[in-house]
Amino acid sequence: MKRILDGLPYPVVAGRDAAQLVAELAGPLRHRTIVVSDRLVERRGKLVADAVRAAGCDVLGVVNIAAGERRKHLKTVTDLHTAFLHAGADRHTLVIAVGGGTLTDTVGFAAATLLRGIPWLAVATTIVGMVDAAIGGKTGIDRPEGKNLVGAFWPPVGVVADLDAVTTLPLRERRTGMAEVVKAAIVGDAELLERIALFDVKGDPQVWEPLVARAAAVKIGVVARDPLERGERKTLNLGHTFAHALEQASRYRMPHGAAVALGLRAAGILARDRTGWPHADHRRMLHALRRCGLHVHVRGLAPEAVMGAMRTDKKRVNGILRFVLPAKLGDVRYGCEVPAAAVHSALKELGTAVASGGW
Ligand SMILES: NC(=O)c1ccc[n+]([C@@H]2O[C@H](COP(=O)([O-])OP(=O)(O)OC[C@H]3O[C@@H](n4cnc5c(N)ncnc54)[C@H](O)[C@@H]3O)[C@@H](O)[C@H]2O)c1
Ligand SMILES: [Zn+2]
Repeated sequence: MKRILDGLPYPVVAGRDAAQLVAELAGPLRHRTIVVSDRLVERRGKLVADAVRAAGCDVLGVVNIAAGERRKHLKTVTDLHTAFLHAGADRHTLVIAVGGGTLTDTVGFAAATLLRGIPWLAVATTIVGMVDAAIGGKTGIDRPEGKNLVGAFWPPVGVVADLDAVTTLPLRERRTGMAEVVKAAIVGDAELLERIALFDVKGDPQVWEPLVARAAAVKIGVVARDPLERGERKTLNLGHTFAHALEQASRYRMPHGAAVALGLRAAGILARDRTGWPHADHRRMLHALRRCGLHVHVRGLAPEAVMGAMRTDKKRVNGILRFVLPAKLGDVRYGCEVPAAAVHSALKELGTAVASGGW
């Protein structure tokens, strides 16, 4: 089973036999390859290495690393550069990254910066990775000052969504992944929201396939029209100015998707008086998030700490914070300037449960 998702200059495929799909993409290139996998999916990395070797590629090395947001930093990139050089990498060596979004962001950036850029291929093993992180060529790492502050646009030569990887994904990762699916639905596929509300996150890979394909299609469409984020691609940052600040303020204890769920509600609250975001759309969004088991309010939140973290966000222009705000389902605006007082009160509102009929 394989599903080809068209629209980008490189192939994006989703399927259950990811190792075979990678071999089909890498084999004809006859590259020398290095496989880097997240330790938690080491076995999947090995399957990929075996399959590309069988397809005629020379595998220079298989590297397993600890992934996660706390490892998405420069030291990991430097260690990868060392491993690649010691394995004999040159400008034609293909790096195959097998893991979630933190792994593909980091390995993609290591590939972007070694020898002024060597080719890489992403194999996504989390929902966030399959519908979002592995697609679109944004690579990067975090800095103590904030998330994703160092990076490069460096598109992969291909993307494989490893659907069978879902089988080992803990419930928490399945749920947090759904936040990006909800975001995709708001940005470009309103009908997907209804499906999300009926979706069983405990389901097996077959159940995930159509959902992953639809959410990934939204991302592919946006990235195809605006690969370098000059305009429309900014809409994919919906909820993310809040999310990145919440993650940073929690010292990365809060998973990305959990922060995105909260960020989506906060963006909706800000949009209420600014874009005419309808209450009905807001409630559909909250309903979908909650049906996936995501929290839409957070206890013990210190708005000042979150606002402090926002000051280093990349999306500021000349020191003014701009937000991506929904106007209605399928219509998301970027560059909306919001006064600090309104951001502060939205954060306070995020500390309270949604009252019936409330926001
Ligand atoms: N580049 C982009 O365009 C883009 C887009 C969205 C998100 N991101 C980034 O993606 C990151 C979040 O990605 P994520 O949610 O995949 O996080 P992650 O990579 O940290 O993966 C989540 C956890 O699941 C584990 N894991 C991965 N695959 C597994 C599997 N199949 N079975 C069991 N465990 C598995 C990981 O080790 C980790 O502990 C953030 O850093 C975010 O900034 C990037
Ligand atoms: Zn995200």
